[in-house]
Amino acid sequence: MKLKVFKCNKCGAVVLNFDESETLECCDNEMIEQVPNSVDASFEKHLPIYIKEGDKLIAEVPHVMEEEHYIEWIMALTEEGYEMRDLEPGMEAKVEFEADGVKELYAYCNKHGLWKTIVE
Ligand SMILES: [Fe+2]
Repeated sequence: MKLKVFKCNKCGAVVLNFDESETLECCDNEMIEQVPNSVDASFEKHLPIYIKEGDKLIAEVPHVMEEEHYIEWIMALTEEGYEMRDLEPGMEAKVEFEADGVKELYAYCNKHGLWKTIVE
């Protein structure tokens, strides 16, 4: 499974796409594909890190979780699907997934966009 994330530059809507569409439209405009790890911001604060504990994968983003600036979600992607954990300001940006089959972790910062870590 492949993830593409698109954002509307007019209304700010973010759309997750798994069918490998090349383009999507919103507000009469073409949405902008978000390229992971491409925003000029601290890699250390945005890239998901993980440890495996038995059949669990614990993912964490060492980022602030403030009202104005936080990690909106963390996602684990496998060949067959994905699991997503929505986060809110004040929460810890640390979540748990079933480790089986996870090949990529994604995190989305409300200011700095999409970040991706390959899971070995
Ligand atoms: Fe950020």
